[in-house]
Amino acid sequence: MCGIIGIIGKDAVAEKLLAALRRLEYRGYDSAGIATLVDGGIERRRAEGKLDNLEKRLAREPIAGRTGIGHTRWATHGVPNEKNAHPHATDRVAVVHNGIIENFQDLSEELVAAGRRLASDTDTEVVAHLITRYLEEGDEPARATKRALARLEGAFALGIVFAGRDDLMIAARRGSPLAIGIGAGEMYLGSDALALAPLTNKILYLEDGDWAVMTSKGVTVYDAEGREIRRKVRKTAVSGAAVGKGGYRHFMLKEIYEQPQVIGDTLHSFVNPATRAVTLPEFPFDPAKATRITLIACGTSFYACLVAKYWLERLARVPVEVDIASEFRYRGADMPEGGLAVFISQSGETADTLAALRYANKQRQHTLSIVNVPESTIARESEAVLPTNAGPEVGVASTKAFTTQLTVLACLTLAIGRARGAITPDAEARLVGALTEVPARAAEVLNHDERLREIAEEVAKARDVLYLGRGTSYAIAMEGALKLKEISYIHAEGYAAGEMKHGPIALIDEGVPVIVIAPSDELFAKTASNIAEVMARGGRVIFLSDAKGVQRLGWQAAATVQLPEVDPFVAPILYAIPVQLLAYHTAVIKGTDVDRPRNLAKSVTVE
Ligand code: AGP
Repeated sequence: MCGIIGIIGKDAVAEKLLAALRRLEYRGYDSAGIATLVDGGIERRRAEGKLDNLEKRLAREPIAGRTGIGHTRWATHGVPNEKNAHPHATDRVAVVHNGIIENFQDLSEELVAAGRRLASDTDTEVVAHLITRYLEEGDEPARATKRALARLEGAFALGIVFAGRDDLMIAARRGSPLAIGIGAGEMYLGSDALALAPLTNKILYLEDGDWAVMTSKGVTVYDAEGREIRRKVRKTAVSGAAVGKGGYRHFMLKEIYEQPQVIGDTLHSFVNPATRAVTLPEFPFDPAKATRITLIACGTSFYACLVAKYWLERLARVPVEVDIASEFRYRGADMPEGGLAVFISQSGETADTLAALRYANKQRQHTLSIVNVPESTIARESEAVLPTNAGPEVGVASTKAFTTQLTVLACLTLAIGRARGAITPDAEARLVGALTEVPARAAEVLNHDERLREIAEEVAKARDVLYLGRGTSYAIAMEGALKLKEISYIHAEGYAAGEMKHGPIALIDEGVPVIVIAPSDELFAKTASNIAEVMARGGRVIFLSDAKGVQRLGWQAAATVQLPEVDPFVAPILYAIPVQLLAYHTAVIKGTDVDRPRNLAKSVTVE
């Protein structure tokens, strides 16, 4: 999950590389570096830690050059220090890399035996030395690169520049995403459209096995065998402006506050407010005829799958299986003929989810992906795509992507339920009505921001936190726990409320806040008895409910947040927002880096 940028420019490129790395920092921030071509040689500036350190280094020691590459790192091999920071280089070649070279040990032994000295502990450095070796044997850069690529095993997105060749850059892709941007007399290379947004909106995406030779005049793409191939140039919607914080302290807070808007934008793609009916785009298959629906994802996106399981089984009456992609891809599931496999991913590049998609394709499943990046690899390899219209999500903790995933899944449920005769037109109109209310209700929930900040003062003191819920609130409980732990570093667990008496209640004491997610739905009474069990043992309950629920139980809780009363169908979309805000404020109080929490990256493109 590193970030790569490359520019063949018309003028000095160092500042542009740095600015692009700022837009890529959400992909990893253990170290960063740039390399430029200067006076026939290669100049590098690298720094450990966040990008600010590289910026300071460049201010102290600026570098010239109109062609260069840059990298922000999420460490896979080699501790995150300057020695292991990319770009890695010899005197003739500099390389940036996202992925894992799985046979790098063998290659480094071979190179050392041939007299080459490796300076780092990384897998990437062997690429620079391999290409250099072939250059020294007399190969031109393209041929030297092709020979080196043939020796590599594993996943990579590579950007490569060559000393003395200011109008040349070579890119290669196997497993990790890579985009090429076309400018006016300039050419760009980036891990995603976000990195290239302020530079160009004309992008082509390399496919697995592609490699490309770029000059300021254009790009030629080749397949693994060296045959020239054509890749479609697309116009991306991502604008440079969408990438700023817009006056918010953190991207995460901005993205939480964007939810009323983006939920509405996503709804408008599928819902006709006048007819109160859902219309999905044409698929090359009928999702309503699926013998079984399998929902697969990772992390927060998996919790969207979990919510959808309740919806699809209860409302559309279709058998549903859910699994995390890292388990699904290896368990050899025998999938029924005519099944539908749905893959949910904000980035559309998550390695485990992509591998699970490829498994499902081999299992003759119809495949549908729900992604926030329509031109992503997962989208391109699915039979059908339903986009979330959340706009770029930069904060590592997923927020608006999650609630728009739920919005799409709710529309999918209604469309399938209607087609299967499980949802009557009246029921559909009622549920669509509830959905169209969500943007306004979400805006109301944001009014509890200060209340949640106050509650976060208490939560920030805890060592362990429990989140409880039943039904779709159980999935939100797990999502809330993930939000808290990934940005505040406080241990948290989401549990089915009914499970407490089977063990976890032993954890309860006054030092363990228990966040209970309980809209006044049909399961409320059951959850209420679980809360009573917790409070009877001195547990401090933070109660998220609506007016009815607060009236019935709020008086016993240590704190309450009263949310708008909504149809239980849409409650999970709404109740995601307070747990996002609670995690956000707790992290701010703890002083962690909210947008770039330790050890994490936004898009997990390695397994
Ligand atoms: C969410 O807050 C996390 N950052 C993480 O769990 C994320 O949801 C997961 O890595 C899946 O990413 P994707 O949606 O891009 O596939």
